[in-house]
Amino acid sequence: MKNQIPMVDLRAQYLRIKNDIDAAMTRVVETTAFIKGPDCGAFEKEFAAFCGVEACVGVANGTDALIYALRAYGVGLGDEVVTVANTFIATGEAILLNGATPVFVDVDDLTYTLDPSKLAAAITKKTKVIIPVHLYGHPCAMDAINKIACDHGIPVLEDSAQGHGATLNGKRAGSLGHAACFSFYPGKNLGAYGDAGAVVSSDKEFIAKVRQIANHGGGANKYDNVVLGTNSRLDTMQAAILRAKLPHLQQWTEERGERAALYSKLLDGVPGLVTPKEGAGAQSAWHLYTVRTSRRDALIDELKKNGISTAVHYPRPIHLQPAMGPAGGKAGHLPVSENLSREVVCLPLYPELPLEEIERIAGLVRAFLSA
Ligand SMILES: Cc1ncc(COP(=O)(O)O)c(C=O)c1O
Repeated sequence: MKNQIPMVDLRAQYLRIKNDIDAAMTRVVETTAFIKGPDCGAFEKEFAAFCGVEACVGVANGTDALIYALRAYGVGLGDEVVTVANTFIATGEAILLNGATPVFVDVDDLTYTLDPSKLAAAITKKTKVIIPVHLYGHPCAMDAINKIACDHGIPVLEDSAQGHGATLNGKRAGSLGHAACFSFYPGKNLGAYGDAGAVVSSDKEFIAKVRQIANHGGGANKYDNVVLGTNSRLDTMQAAILRAKLPHLQQWTEERGERAALYSKLLDGVPGLVTPKEGAGAQSAWHLYTVRTSRRDALIDELKKNGISTAVHYPRPIHLQPAMGPAGGKAGHLPVSENLSREVVCLPLYPELPLEEIERIAGLVRAFLSA
């Protein structure tokens, strides 16, 4: 019986740091500090330091991080937010849920992230925020994006839901724009044991605004509700688990990078296969190892027969999702994104993935695409 290889193995990660995780969970239960416990504030400080920024606010999930960050910018009806369609639906939802309109620009063919050469043309008088997405853990071309944004006086909000630990010219994702949103969905590079998210920035006033919105619009006293807010607090249990994991994140990122490099070496020259590349100055966090081939669906079947899981991120660019309604676009609008959706497939990648399994997977991909 061949080994079954999942896309991620959260149990293998748990077993590596079981004592720390168990102690963190026990601490929360024993102190019963379930809401806004000390682990929340401590995690916010530690995660801000990891990202290289001044402040962080924990929220309930990455989608809320985007929604309430946009609200803190004052995004609302009649505004436009420029972003990409080659992303998870949450990026678009957050814009529409604030009453604004997403304006989609295409991605570049090398890194699959926002193509800065197409950005300026998408900006209008109504543009309030630009959201580049560090897809698959690859940091966007932030220098060029920030320059255009700065010329127009528009803040850049990183969607770093997949970007924990990625760097651009030595600076970590989260510190590359005005603010950044993170998801700690369990399968992310830094994942909770449930839903969790955060907004980070060096603009402390901005973070205070997000915190206020995410905690019922609170004022100085407990039952002051000074702006319309909601309940999107980071759960203490999740904060404690994230604190146990954060000290390992850099090592896990390096282990991912080692595995990505091995895949790329073993898959070099496979007919019709495009392996992922890093842009100038960029170090990917390798959230996903994503290859391209026009024989994608047949390759997925072949790997499945051999017990190997794969994933397609994403089978439909979000401008073509019915959920986007009239704010979406027509097929053909974003040719690079649309092509990617037909060709990409993510191979298993996680820090504990044995190197010999990568050899087996790469061998199967080579044999299949060479036939
Ligand atoms: C690019 C991107 N943005 C936003 C999100 C939303 O995060 P969450 O699932 O924590 O709400 C995700 C999560 O998958 C994502 O990948």
